[in-house]
Amino acid sequence: MNVEGARILVPGATGAIGAALAGRLHGRGARVAVAGRDPVALQRVAEACGGAPAFRFDAYGLDRCAHTVTRAAERLGGLDAVVVLVGVPAFGPAPAVDDTVAEHLFTVNALAPMAFLRAALPVVPPRGVLAAVTGPVVDVVPAGMADYGAAKAALAAWLAAVRRERRRVGPAVLDIRLPHTESGFARRAVVGDPPRLPPGRTVDEAADEIVEALVSSGTAGHA
Ligand SMILES: NC(=O)c1ccc[n+]([C@@H]2O[C@H](COP(=O)([O-])OP(=O)(O)OC[C@H]3O[C@@H](n4cnc5c(N)ncnc54)[C@H](OP(=O)(O)O)[C@@H]3O)[C@@H](O)[C@H]2O)c1
Repeated sequence: MNVEGARILVPGATGAIGAALAGRLHGRGARVAVAGRDPVALQRVAEACGGAPAFRFDAYGLDRCAHTVTRAAERLGGLDAVVVLVGVPAFGPAPAVDDTVAEHLFTVNALAPMAFLRAALPVVPPRGVLAAVTGPVVDVVPAGMADYGAAKAALAAWLAAVRRERRRVGPAVLDIRLPHTESGFARRAVVGDPPRLPPGRTVDEAADEIVEALVSSGTAGHA
């Protein structure tokens, strides 16, 4: 897709990678709308994106996630892409992750991104893009990350099926599998401590990778 002039909603723009991505898209001439939970971070990223329309949501409000797509489309006069960067991890062996935490992980990492993208399907045109971020955890879930990995794998499976549904008609449906990134994400775990990891990519590198994925996609039949 051509980012310049594209109308792009970024749920999770209050996070480290989301804010960097929103700023890059704005810098490349996109008309960005930002969405997030933290009001201070949301205002900051909206200002950094030239006073972009900003919408608050919590992942537990799935109707609100869907409605955010409608509101953003109204403000921007349509949407050409939605890129979801909402997520939260948890660490520890399965017995240490109780069912409430598991529900939280599946809501934030799977159900909320699905709600945004489901609502975007009838809104985004055939040459547009729907994207969410997963990671290598989807292919091989490490010990101590069962519930986070399962939630991201659920999202990846959903994206793969919707991509098949839309293969001929668009929009493109992307599962952007980011490697470990030094965003502080692991420190914001709902429970548990992250395993020792080798140094990851920078947030800027991750944002560049997402922009590149958007730029190289978006043709119906090539999703
Ligand atoms: N960092 C990595 O190594 C890595 C690797 C692969 C994939 N990813 C994925 O990349 C995405 C961005 O992560 P990041 O590294 O930028 O981490 P981050 O800074 O912690 O960003 C997480 C985002 O998720 C939002 N979020 C969390 N819980 C929420 C809730 N209950 N309701 C609404 N929003 C909620 C946060 O919103 P608020 O800040 O407004 O609360 C924030 O915008 C995530 O989907 C993550 O799974 C990260």
